Amino acid sequence: MTNLKQAILQGIPSELPAKKNINPSVSHAPNRKDILNKEEKQLAIRNALRYFPEHMHTVLAPEFAEELKTYGRIYMYRFMPDYEIKARHLEDFPHKSKQAAALQMMLSNNLDASIAQHPEELITYGGNGAVFQNWAQYLLCMQYLAEMNDEQTLVLYSGHPMGLFPSHKDAPRVVVTNGMMIPNHSKPDDWEKYNALGVTQYGQMTAGSFMYIGPQGIVHGTTITLLNAARKIDPKAEDLSGKIFITSGLGGMSGAQAKAGVIAKGVCIVAEVNPKATYKRHEQGWVDEVYKDLDELLDRAIEAKTKKEAVSIAYDGNIVDLLERVVERNIHIEIGSDQTSLHNPWAGGYYPVGMSYEDANEMMENKPEQFKKEVQKTLVRHSNAINTLSERGMYFFDYGNAFLLEASRANADILKPNGDFKYPSYVQDIMGPMCFDYGFGPFRWVCASNDAKDLVITDRIACEVLEEIMQHSPVEIKLQMSDNINWIKAAGENKMVVGSQARILYADAQGRMKIAEAFNNAIADGTLSAPVVLGRDHHDVSGTDSPYRETSNIYDGSQFTADMAIQNVIGDSFRGATWVSIHNGGGVGWGEVINGGFGMLLDGSADADRRLKSLLFWDVNNGISRRSWARNKEANFAIKRAMKMNPDLKVTMPNTANDSLINSLDL
Ligand SMILES: NC(=O)c1ccc[n+]([C@@H]2O[C@H](COP(=O)([O-])OP(=O)(O)OC[C@H]3O[C@@H](n4cnc5c(N)ncnc54)[C@H](O)[C@@H]3O)[C@@H](O)[C@H]2O)c1
Repeated sequence: MTNLKQAILQGIPSELPAKKNINPSVSHAPNRKDILNKEEKQLAIRNALRYFPEHMHTVLAPEFAEELKTYGRIYMYRFMPDYEIKARHLEDFPHKSKQAAALQMMLSNNLDASIAQHPEELITYGGNGAVFQNWAQYLLCMQYLAEMNDEQTLVLYSGHPMGLFPSHKDAPRVVVTNGMMIPNHSKPDDWEKYNALGVTQYGQMTAGSFMYIGPQGIVHGTTITLLNAARKIDPKAEDLSGKIFITSGLGGMSGAQAKAGVIAKGVCIVAEVNPKATYKRHEQGWVDEVYKDLDELLDRAIEAKTKKEAVSIAYDGNIVDLLERVVERNIHIEIGSDQTSLHNPWAGGYYPVGMSYEDANEMMENKPEQFKKEVQKTLVRHSNAINTLSERGMYFFDYGNAFLLEASRANADILKPNGDFKYPSYVQDIMGPMCFDYGFGPFRWVCASNDAKDLVITDRIACEVLEEIMQHSPVEIKLQMSDNINWIKAAGENKMVVGSQARILYADAQGRMKIAEAFNNAIADGTLSAPVVLGRDHHDVSGTDSPYRETSNIYDGSQFTADMAIQNVIGDSFRGATWVSIHNGGGVGWGEVINGGFGMLLDGSADADRRLKSLLFWDVNNGISRRSWARNKEANFAIKRAMKMNPDLKVTMPNTANDSLINSLDL
């Protein structure tokens, strides 16, 4: 047996391992705030010691107390494994169940130091998107996965492995819940408190559900958004060519804008105030050119637009300086957005104009009140420039970063007389009606051989399947189909793989089912060397109830309910998912969203074929039916089509009330 297998099977070591220092060369989570009182701190330490035999407690209790004091959390650094955590071939993990081995592969990818944002604090992305709360949970979970068989289910409560329970072959091997709270206890400080106590965690979307595949997902999503934004303003447009997209942010997620702008064939101008972020993206090849001189930059952009060149151009400076110069020079911009971190405006998410990055950081630390005023003044100028450019024909959308919300709080001129925002969010205008309502969403797969050759084969299979379906697709969805065919054709060339051999594309229920079926056949006949894991981002048609994002284009009042996400995860769990997950928080914040997902191992068997058809049909059509009931006409079209395809589907359809009848009522 390999050392790796032995180490995983050992679980929590019976003898205390040597103390470990944190690695200074990897990024670490910010210290969390000191929120517990003395009794609660004692409780947190008691809670942490539950994982260890009593003979270790005299050493571990003061060590955990020190971690709680220093970091605001108990991570149990001493128990970090010595082996490298990363995705490997399924067979490299110790297992009795292949499905459980697939879970080891997937969660290892989420903790890979080259992928995870703060690997030693078990955070995959988004600052607080946790896979586990501490290293004991990781060790125990891997051990259970290594030992379990196909008649057991592992139950995870916010990272804590409650244990293996007898179940049956068709049941999920793992059921994940993250951050589920009694609704009245779901404010941001509740997360701080209960996470510090070690009883809950923030799983984001794909972090705590073991489904993260690196930056590929966000590049693809941004590409689809930009292509559809171009068509929204110009129905004859196929893509972004000959159009300028202007925005800001070259950080973690926002950095995808530059790459996506070029894949969508447009001219993408991005302002970034932090030179380190700008030059990092330039070195990585995600940004083509960087300018400090605004006029030089704008001349270059106009030239590229005229020649219909696809290029990304960074402005090493503040977005407001860039936009105001565009206004002064009266340059026509087709599409605008913003991806500064305005969900976090006072602590480095958004930088005031008129000062250097260093001076701004200094002011943020030493004069926070003045910093706040400067941010708000900048938001007013930022909004004014957007308003002028929009009056001149620019199409602006909020990119899910709270720009409109914070600008309105800064009293910027960003509201209509009725109090609504002047501009839509990207889901209201683009993702919702053009993708989710038709069932298109972020389907993904991972090759369990961890072999790039298998990924190339899956790309080819997926492309052939989509091309075949497209021949008979209704006109309403043809563009979505062709976008994803183009994406998959160029996917290898765009070199998007970091970590596991994974791919994402947007497909509807039919596309997802047919691709999955073709993969399963290719595993059965040996074309693929090993099984394939299917899954999706939670940012999808059915999995997420989030009134400011995924379900922001639901207008019947139900956007503040979460029945869809809960129904979805329950439905997935008895239709053959290998694992299911349901989370509070993710993207827009704790208490603001409920989101869920699934993973499914395809092993080439007839059982897998039955499961994939049953699950994928439900997993997409659940959300379409709800969107249709909310009177969304695109969803209405899609669900009628689904009912024709499968006569066992019978969805309650809405009737439409006459506007003049409603308006005539004495209310
Ligand atoms: N809609 C989506 O699909 C989606 C996806 C991911 C992230 N987001 C949101 O987008 C935001 C950005 O995410 P991120 O991961 O890139 O964050 P990030 O903090 O890594 O990047 C934001 C960047 O904006 C820069 N910036 C701040 N103020 C600026 C200014 N005035 N001018 C120019 N640059 C400025 C910062 O220096 C930083 O590099 C977040 O609020 C996030 O929640 C939305």
